[in-house]
Amino acid sequence: MAYISSGVACSHVPALGVASDTGISDDDYYGPIFKGFEPSKKWMADEKPDVIFLVYNDHCTAFDATVIPTFALGCATEYQPADEGWGPRPVPVVKGHQELSAHIAQSLVLDMFDITVINQMEVDHGLTVPLTMMFGQPDEWPCPVVPLAVNVVQYPAPLGQRCFALGKAIRTAIESYPEDLKICVFGTGGMSHQLQHQRAGLINSEWDARFMDLLVNDPDKGSQIEHIEYLREAGSEGIELVMWYVMRGALNEKVEEKHRFYHVPASNTAVGHLILENR
Ligand code: DHB
Ligand code: FE
Repeated sequence: MAYISSGVACSHVPALGVASDTGISDDDYYGPIFKGFEPSKKWMADEKPDVIFLVYNDHCTAFDATVIPTFALGCATEYQPADEGWGPRPVPVVKGHQELSAHIAQSLVLDMFDITVINQMEVDHGLTVPLTMMFGQPDEWPCPVVPLAVNVVQYPAPLGQRCFALGKAIRTAIESYPEDLKICVFGTGGMSHQLQHQRAGLINSEWDARFMDLLVNDPDKGSQIEHIEYLREAGSEGIELVMWYVMRGALNEKVEEKHRFYHVPASNTAVGHLILENR
């Protein structure tokens, strides 16, 4: 049967994708950030998942204001990198796993999580930057990806509690898939950041550290963080962090924290990153 071996939490700062694509990832500004992911790349080379289940958010790229699915499961055979204004990132096409996606879609809906099925979708920095941070610049991504897009861009975003419960339902779905597949779940986005208006540039490192501690060690409590706290403490884009709770819900109650990295600044935000293994 398929099983979940590990979880990865990772910010998706678009400037990191640009730094990697343009060969400046070892300069004075970006070097320390990419260095923090060196142990992760080594870990990933040993981990070798068969499939990545990647929870991310679209930034008005695949979806605009005409359609705003709260939870959208990618069920395509492949996902093209999107043009986000400067042309598509020069990264490989993201191959899907259609059979596993279809199974998860059925399992979730029968489990009363009425997700939206997406059969065609381009993917933006929310999905491609975490892949770059974990795999560098390969000719092909090393395994298929099943994407789950969560709306955290347009009010109302889902609650952390709902994301946590969805993660548990995703685990049930994966563990009922008959093929022996080792699956790594990515929760992406964050950390504290605000991109507009008077508090643009807000970073709250103390809160970010507490967020990571709760996520790892007391996710029942952490998943109850309210929208208003994300907004007040982590800025208007800090709400992206609810997606980490989908990943956390898919893991065991107790996990082993294999690696933690936190760095300020990266563009307008703090880069946060965790590797968690199921015990
Ligand atoms: C930045 C961060 C994001 O999460 C994003 O989607 C776009 C930009 C930034 O820090 O620049
Ligand atoms: Fe974002």
